[in-house]
Amino acid sequence: MARENYSAWSKQNLIDEVKKLKKRKKYGIVWEDKPEQVAELCKEKLPVLAEDKGKEIVTNKEKPVNILIEGDNYHALSVLNYTHKGKIDVIYIDPPYNTGSNVWRYSNDYVDSEDLFKHSKWLSFMEKRLKLAKNLLKDDGVIIVTIDDYELYSLGLLMDEIFGENNRMSTLVIESNPRGRTSNAFFATSHEYYLFYAKNSSKAKIENIPLTEEQASVFKYEDEISRYRLLPLRKSGAASRRKDRPKQFFPIYINPTTLRLSLEKKSSDSIKLEPIDNSGEERVWKIGKINCEKYIESGDVLAIRNSNNSFSLFQKDRIKIGRKPKTMWINPDYDASAHGTNLISEILGKRNLFDYPKSLYAVIDSLQTLITSKKNAVVLDFFAGSGTTGHAVLEMNKRDGGQRKFILCTDNENGICIDVCYPRIKNIILGYKNLKNEKVEGLDGNLKYFKTDFVDAEPTDKNKKKMVYKSTEMLCLKEDCFDEVKKGQDFRIFNNKKDKYLGVIYGDEGIEPFKNEIKKLNHKFIVYVFSLDESAREEEFEDVKNLVTLKPIPAAILNVYRRIFKW
Ligand SMILES: C[S@@+](CC[C@H](N)C(=O)[O-])C[C@H]1O[C@@H](n2cnc3c(N)ncnc32)[C@H](O)[C@@H]1O
Repeated sequence: MARENYSAWSKQNLIDEVKKLKKRKKYGIVWEDKPEQVAELCKEKLPVLAEDKGKEIVTNKEKPVNILIEGDNYHALSVLNYTHKGKIDVIYIDPPYNTGSNVWRYSNDYVDSEDLFKHSKWLSFMEKRLKLAKNLLKDDGVIIVTIDDYELYSLGLLMDEIFGENNRMSTLVIESNPRGRTSNAFFATSHEYYLFYAKNSSKAKIENIPLTEEQASVFKYEDEISRYRLLPLRKSGAASRRKDRPKQFFPIYINPTTLRLSLEKKSSDSIKLEPIDNSGEERVWKIGKINCEKYIESGDVLAIRNSNNSFSLFQKDRIKIGRKPKTMWINPDYDASAHGTNLISEILGKRNLFDYPKSLYAVIDSLQTLITSKKNAVVLDFFAGSGTTGHAVLEMNKRDGGQRKFILCTDNENGICIDVCYPRIKNIILGYKNLKNEKVEGLDGNLKYFKTDFVDAEPTDKNKKKMVYKSTEMLCLKEDCFDEVKKGQDFRIFNNKKDKYLGVIYGDEGIEPFKNEIKKLNHKFIVYVFSLDESAREEEFEDVKNLVTLKPIPAAILNVYRRIFKW
C-alpha cells in the first residue's frame, strides 16, 4: 500500500494505520535494524562453550576460577544467560567506538565511515548485547560503558531505553589522552566518557574512594577516636546570614578559666559568644542547638583562645574513609598510552601489540566506586580486548585480599585474544620479566579458557554425545564446580575444590545409582536431572532430601536436549 495514496485506502485500512501510528514511539532512538549472522545462528543451534584445557592456569586452589571466553560476545552472552543470570555485580565494557576507521566488523563486514548504515549497525550490535547483558546483573548490579563523541548520543538514548532513565547513575569524564587528539578538526579531544547505569537505582550504591595522601594530610590532629581537622563553627558563604537560618543563631557561653562551653549561662563570669563575623554581620552556626549540645558534650565543638584573649569556636571535622567520587577524573594515571599501551608492552615484552587499551588505573578506580567492599564480586567484560579488566580485578584482590573474579570475552581479531589477552593474564598471574629484564611477581590466580561453540539440533549420535558432554560443562560453569569426582554410566559428580558438590543425572536410569553414590559420600548436592518429559522428580529424591537441592535445567539447554533425544 503506497503511503501517498491514502484516498484509495479502505476505511478499515485507514483505521489500522491510525492505530499503528498512535502506538509509535513518542520519544527515543529509532534506527533500521540490521540482522546479524551470529544472532541468527544462536537461534538455530544451541550456543555452548568448549574448554581449551591446554590453556588452563591454576596457581592457588583457594582462589576463585576466572574465565576467558574467545569468540563473539553475542554468543558468549547467550551462554551466560543460562549460566550466570542475575549473578554479575559489575559489567565494565569498552565497545568499539565506531570511528569508521575499519577496525570494527558487523556481521563479518568491516564498517567504514562511508557506510550509510554505520550508526544503525552499531546500534543493532549494541542493543542485542546490552539486552542480554542486563539479565546477567544482580539486582544491585551496575554496568559501566565507556564511549567517546562518535556514539555518545546514540549510546545515551539506547542505555535510557534498555536500562531506564531512572537508572542512569552518572556520566564520568576521564582524561585518557592528556596530550589531546591533534588530528581533530576543531578541539583536540583529551577525554572519554564512562556511563554508569544501575539495574535498579534504588538498590545500587556508589562507594567512597580512598583519600589521596595529599587529601588525608590536612587532617592534622588526632584524638582517641580518629584523625581530624578543625573547621570554624561559624558558617560563611551562601545561606550563612541570621535571616537565612534563624534557628542556628544562638549564644554559646564559655567559662574563660576552664574553657568549658554550654548553651546556658552557668556562672557570672561566663562570656557569651555569638556567630558574628569580623565586620559585625550576624551569621549562623553550622549546626542547630540539639547537635551543638551533643558536640559540646563529646568535645567535638571546642574553643580556642586568640592572641587578643577573645575566643573562636571550632568543630572537629573527622577524617572519613574516603570521599564521594566526583564526575571529572583528571590524573596522569588515567593516560591510556602510558598505563595501557606501554603497560602491555612491559608485560608481554613486545611493542605495538594493541592500540586501544584502557589505563589499568582508570579501570581499577572506576570498579572501586562499585566493589571496594564487595570482596567476592563477579565482574564481566565482554569487549575485553587486551584484558585490562581482568588485570584490574587481580590487582584489586592483591591490594585487599579479595576473592573477586572476572569473566572476560573477546573475539580474536588480529590475535587480540590468543596473542595479547591470554598471555597478559597469564603473565600477571604467574609473573614475568619486563622490558628492562626485571622480574615482576605474579599475582596468583586461576583461569579457565573457553571458545564459543555450537551443538546442532539434528538428532544424530554425534550431536547427542556432544549435547550431553557440553550441557554438563555448562552446568559446571553455572555452579562453578569443575572437578570431576565420579563418573557413573548415567550420572556425573563434580566438586569445586571446597565444599560444593554438583550431580548431573542423564535420564531416570541414572537416579538410583546416583543416590547410592551420594549416600556413601554424605555431602550436600546440587542436582540437575535431564529428562524427556515434564514430570517433577522431587518424590524420587524423598529419601535423600536432606542431601539434595534439585534445580531446573536452563530452558535453552533442555529444549535442545529434548529435541535431539526425543527420537
Ligand atoms: C576497544 S577494545 C577494548 C579494549 C579493552 N578495554 C582493553 O583495555 O584492552 C574492544 C574490543 O572488543 C573486541 N570486539 C569487537 N567486537 C566484538 C564481538 N562481537 N565479540 C567479542 N569481542 C569483540 C575487539 O576485538 C576489541 O579488542
